[in-house]
Amino acid sequence: MTHNSKPTYIAPSILAADIGRLSHEVDSVVKGGADWLHVDVMDGTFVPPITFGANVVHSLRKQTSTFLDVHLMIVEPERHFDSFKDAGADRIIIHQETCPHLHRSLSAIRTLGIKNGVAINPGTPVEAVYDVLEVCDLVLIMTVNPGWGGQPFIPACLGKIRQLQSRIQSAAADVIIEVDGGINAETALECRQAGASAFVAGSYVFGASDRAEAIRRLRP
Ligand code: DX5
Ligand code: ZN
Repeated sequence: MTHNSKPTYIAPSILAADIGRLSHEVDSVVKGGADWLHVDVMDGTFVPPITFGANVVHSLRKQTSTFLDVHLMIVEPERHFDSFKDAGADRIIIHQETCPHLHRSLSAIRTLGIKNGVAINPGTPVEAVYDVLEVCDLVLIMTVNPGWGGQPFIPACLGKIRQLQSRIQSAAADVIIEVDGGINAETALECRQAGASAFVAGSYVFGASDRAEAIRRLRP
């Protein structure tokens, strides 16, 4: 078991919120102890559904000072860095699978003065991010195939978390491992033991009548 002394970040995904009552939903998880808000941006091309754009990030920013963790599941994400930054994103996460010039794209996000992250799908080997760790603040290991909330956790992804954690340790890199998809109290614990310290949860948090309690259960 890998012991993980990094701070824990719980990031409810607003994909699972009732969008018609978004400000109330946001309030419930911020008051319930959320560290970050996770915003799933989908373009209908990289993944089938279409969800939110920078306008929603802008609305969230007006409502809260909570850290906005923006997950871009879109092709050619570089075209949108400025608009998400201007809208108030604190972190922009891009997919390795959409970025032929990943090192340059991650560096471009940092140049804007915000945090970056790189996500990998369940079918992508973790070695695909080894050569960008030096320009990277966070690696998002997808624990479902991106596109929808409410899917079951894929246990085979745990091995990638362990591998990445040991690579980060041996490189003495300052990189957070985040997990996203099918996260609940049990799978969060397994991911934590493998080396993750940031946990995205959509249906587990927003499907709970007591959001504060759900967020507490995701912590160690
Ligand atoms: C999946 C998204 C996730 C999603 C997770 O494509 O990236 O952030 O909201 O939802 P749950 O926690 O319900 O699996
Ligand atoms: Zn996500």
